[in-house]
Amino acid sequence: MSPTVDPPPYFRLHVFICTNRRPDDNPRGSCAQRGSEPLREHLKDAQKRLGLKDVRVNSAGCLDRCGAGPVMVIYPEGIWYGFSTVADIDEILDTHIVKGGRVERLMVDKPAKAE
Ligand code: FES
Repeated sequence: MSPTVDPPPYFRLHVFICTNRRPDDNPRGSCAQRGSEPLREHLKDAQKRLGLKDVRVNSAGCLDRCGAGPVMVIYPEGIWYGFSTVADIDEILDTHIVKGGRVERLMVDKPAKAE
């Protein structure tokens, strides 16, 4: 059998934002309850305004990291962010999505320090 090579990614970056909503009395809470829906809309609007056609922003159901929510995950790197304000979204957009950097203060899983 000949080796195969994966095709290139269809999107440069794929962003999944949890917009799951649980009932208000659910003790787990949810990302939508904590404000993820308008922040997702803000990111989508900004992405379109900047013409980032190689980036896809999708709503997602529960990503199973509710305690850190609202959360998003950006692939292909698999970097998770917890966010709560428009300023957080703008920083993730500019630093990570546009420039390829990381917003360490918002990362759910902190990066290992280089030795
Ligand atoms: S409700 Fe958003 S990660 Fe579970």
